Amino acid sequence: MLYNLDCVDGSEKIIDDESVDLLIADPPYNLGFGGTKHTKTKKPRFNIIANDQLSHRNYQRFTFQWLRQAYRILKPGRHIYVCIDWRMYPYMALWMRRVGFVIKNCITWNKVHMGMGHQYRFQHEFIIFAVKGEKARRIRSRSATDIWSIPRISGNKTIHPTEKPVEVMQKMILNSSEPGEMVVDFFSGSGPVAEAVIRSGRELTAFEIDPHWYEVSKQRIEAVQQELREEGADL
Ligand SMILES: C[S@@+](CC[C@H](N)C(=O)[O-])C[C@H]1O[C@@H](n2cnc3c(N)ncnc32)[C@H](O)[C@@H]1O
Repeated sequence: MLYNLDCVDGSEKIIDDESVDLLIADPPYNLGFGGTKHTKTKKPRFNIIANDQLSHRNYQRFTFQWLRQAYRILKPGRHIYVCIDWRMYPYMALWMRRVGFVIKNCITWNKVHMGMGHQYRFQHEFIIFAVKGEKARRIRSRSATDIWSIPRISGNKTIHPTEKPVEVMQKMILNSSEPGEMVVDFFSGSGPVAEAVIRSGRELTAFEIDPHWYEVSKQRIEAVQQELREEGADL
């Protein structure tokens, strides 16, 4: 189920304590990013996403709010993945620990193709992998490493300013949940987590605060469900 709600209020109202098997969060990084620029006008292709241009203090407050909800709803031993980049990593890791999460690793997403940046072009982001409590569930793959080389979606093909490939989300879901389990996405954007959850036979609860991105995610979910129905899946 996808909700056009703030993930903090929404999860508080809708999701019971310790009822979630996996939580995925690709939050605003507070970098005020409007996506790649149009070649001709040099203007950003998108508006800045919600909660991506806050004072540091307000960003910290907002992050603590959703992290506390994430901690409350996750079952003990279950995993949380939080996407972040090198600029905000130190804060996010600290704040996650303060809320109670035990950080197990930091995955490097190697985007394969270079992006922006002046002093060395950017080609990676981080994904913090953490657990609620000391007794962590094992990831399903025994040979998975903490470097994921998955090509980014090229700037002119993205439909959301900070869009991630569905394969990145799929890896988290397949490694950290079983079929039929509940996966929660706090920041749906264009809906790659939703797509990966549906394709892998898990249950979805997702939030997106912006009506436009909510609609984009909703349409993506409907298209994937339609595709799977045509293939004969029992949804
Ligand atoms: C980094 S983007 C996620 C992009 C997504 N992973 C994708 O690949 O399309 C963060 C998204 O969270 C949304 N958002 C910001 N604050 C939110 C909140 N409090 N609750 C729910 N969604 C929020 C933004 O509108 C934005 O679409």
